[in-house]
Amino acid sequence: MASSARPRVFVSRRLFQETLDLLAEHADLDVFDRSGSPSSEELLERTKGCSALVAQGTDRVDAAFLDQVRGLKIVANVAVGYNNIDIDAARQRKVITTNTPDVLDEACAVLTWGLILGVTRRLGEGERILRAGQWKGFQLDFLLGMDLVGKTLGIIGMGRIGQAVAAKADAFGMRVVYLRSPRRADEKITGPGGVPYEGLALEELLQRSDIVTLHVPLTTETRHMINTTSIRLMKPTAYLVNMARGPVVEEASVVSALENGWIAGAALDVYELEPVVHPGLLKFDNAFLIPHLGSATRETRTAMCNLAARNVIEVLAGRAPVTPIPGSYLP
Ligand code: DGY
Repeated sequence: MASSARPRVFVSRRLFQETLDLLAEHADLDVFDRSGSPSSEELLERTKGCSALVAQGTDRVDAAFLDQVRGLKIVANVAVGYNNIDIDAARQRKVITTNTPDVLDEACAVLTWGLILGVTRRLGEGERILRAGQWKGFQLDFLLGMDLVGKTLGIIGMGRIGQAVAAKADAFGMRVVYLRSPRRADEKITGPGGVPYEGLALEELLQRSDIVTLHVPLTTETRHMINTTSIRLMKPTAYLVNMARGPVVEEASVVSALENGWIAGAALDVYELEPVVHPGLLKFDNAFLIPHLGSATRETRTAMCNLAARNVIEVLAGRAPVTPIPGSYLP
């Protein structure tokens, strides 16, 4: 009897057992337990009748979906990004939406440096040569890369992750500049020593940076903000790094840039049509490509899942969520 009164939660992907145990103390769970992800039809069918959906960044939650899952109280995304959710539609239908900020900043920042080192020191190329048995031994001019010391790191998206990337720049001897928000022109963002970073307009940042790294959310404003026009402002010796969302960069223009030598290389963690990668990128050794691993450490992914669970538990208990998405409905 008691269990039939418990709220139901659809969990759209396998999560860590400790997260499921946490949730199961408060609700009856239906867990998508196959590999891959549920189709949009299955996501809808299994969310119907549930009070909460624990979603991933690839589960589309739009107005049409929300109209068919009346009674849903919360969509808890296991991701900091929330471009998969129509926040306005959720707010209008009084559905709370949450994400998992903060807990992944360090993992994403560290891997951004992994991308920077990977592309500037040609690690992917080196490993491919070695594994193919083609390494001929030490050679003075073999796979020469670029030093980071004394160079300029241009950060587009100086939020939590962007600032965590910036905080490590000193260790590599790099100077940081960042994209100044026109809406917050007077804002001063300072580094660990309290010294303000230099905020620039996009054009100047692209012209001055030796590495341009992206950490913005995907919105209508940021979609394709890096395109042929913006890439042509970069130095031919500069590198582009994308740790944000694939569609922030127009992939075809990166392919043209590598074809024409407009930039020295690109390092990407995210892609426009994941898991499809533009075939043109695969032709270039100076494209360092990894499969959406930004937050992929055991500790961080566990923290993300547990934070999503805590959001669900709080909302089901009638309390405020821990990390509502900006603009979320809040009762
Ligand atoms: C996020 O949190 O948005 C990441 O892309 C998922 O790892």
